[in-house]
Amino acid sequence: MSSVRHGYRAAVLTPRDAGGLTYIEDGLLVVDGAGKIERVEAFRPEVAGGMFVHDLQRALLVPGFVDAHVHYPQTRVIGSASGPLLEWLQATVFPEEARFSSESYAREVAVDFCRACAAAGTTTVAAYSSSHERATEILFDTLEEAGLRGYVGLTLMERACPRELAVPLAEAERAVRALAKSRHGSAGGRLRLAVTPRFALSCTRELLEAAARLASELELLVQTHVAEHPREAEETLALHPYAADYLGVYEAAGLVGPRTIFAHAIHLSESEWDRVAARGAAIAHCPDSNAFLGSGRMRLGEARRRGIAVGLGSDVAAGRSFDMRRALSHAYDAALATGAPAGAAELFELATLGGARALHLADVAGALTAGRDADFVVLHRPAHAAGEDGALRIATFAADVAPVLRTYVRGRLVWQRDAAF
Ligand code: GUN
Ligand code: ZN
Repeated sequence: MSSVRHGYRAAVLTPRDAGGLTYIEDGLLVVDGAGKIERVEAFRPEVAGGMFVHDLQRALLVPGFVDAHVHYPQTRVIGSASGPLLEWLQATVFPEEARFSSESYAREVAVDFCRACAAAGTTTVAAYSSSHERATEILFDTLEEAGLRGYVGLTLMERACPRELAVPLAEAERAVRALAKSRHGSAGGRLRLAVTPRFALSCTRELLEAAARLASELELLVQTHVAEHPREAEETLALHPYAADYLGVYEAAGLVGPRTIFAHAIHLSESEWDRVAARGAAIAHCPDSNAFLGSGRMRLGEARRRGIAVGLGSDVAAGRSFDMRRALSHAYDAALATGAPAGAAELFELATLGGARALHLADVAGALTAGRDADFVVLHRPAHAAGEDGALRIATFAADVAPVLRTYVRGRLVWQRDAAF
């Protein structure tokens, strides 16, 4: 690591740990030689000595966005409108994911995936891989090279999918253990393994139970889908008749706890919402995906009033964009339509610190404060977006006029826009 300190002079907008936002019109973000934030404060010439100062006065710095739910092997089928969910999985997703048995294809797409995330200003991902161990290793390695942060999960599935995607229990268990050993904590701790049963319909009870045992023994996060579509829920209960409701399937397996992240959570009953809260599980809210597949609308108000941790997910490729500001815009629409309006500040928080909290990464990412890693995005700030209101507009809904100019993770430049802007 270099010992040179870097200062970034720009406007700064960040969520605060205690709630609300901090805005500094002419700020200085100081990054130490190890890639940690040393200070964030108003620019004064006398504090800028002894460092290399990047003059970004026409830009806005925000924390790197956190995509709490995204599927890497769906990168190349983005925009395929073959929904609803179960039909879309069969028609579009499973045939594409089967292609990841090819190492060269997995590598090519992993590079595209990482570039798409970094270009959108996403610095942290909770990514599902395919059900291939080798493709999963390749994703880890490519994320490491690309400099990004996050979780990767081997997608566990053994039924209701093409034969080449089904991984028998013993093989799945071996592969998860091998990945935990070789990749968990790689890239200096930036990358972690998550136990990733695809959803209850892809899994037998035994596989779900094995996933829970692995997560507990290896102390890993769990990510899966819940209550995305009414037909999915119906078929889930037919397959797992011992459970009274969808969440009950995961509870019976021991999969619901403070280290669990559920994507979607659209069609949960009051009791299921209460149990998600009581067990301390988190939600990855994927509003673009939910609109595109016609799955329904997650009720953000239910999570909010119970204090459930919520992050935002692009859910590519059911989501149509890697850009978390797009996801955030769809979250605004969904919140309005469910009678629980959410403001720009709340949604900006979900896309940054909220996601980091849901993923247990808030000690290192999600906000621009001293002591955290320097994961940040440089946004172009047009003259009409001056002041805190303008900054919040471009950090949320007005993404088109405020393209990402640069993306940094742990102080390292991981993406830069080609043309001068
Ligand atoms: N449920 C199970 N698998 C998937 C997937 O790949 N995408 C979405 N949106 N839902 C799922
Ligand atoms: Zn998903």
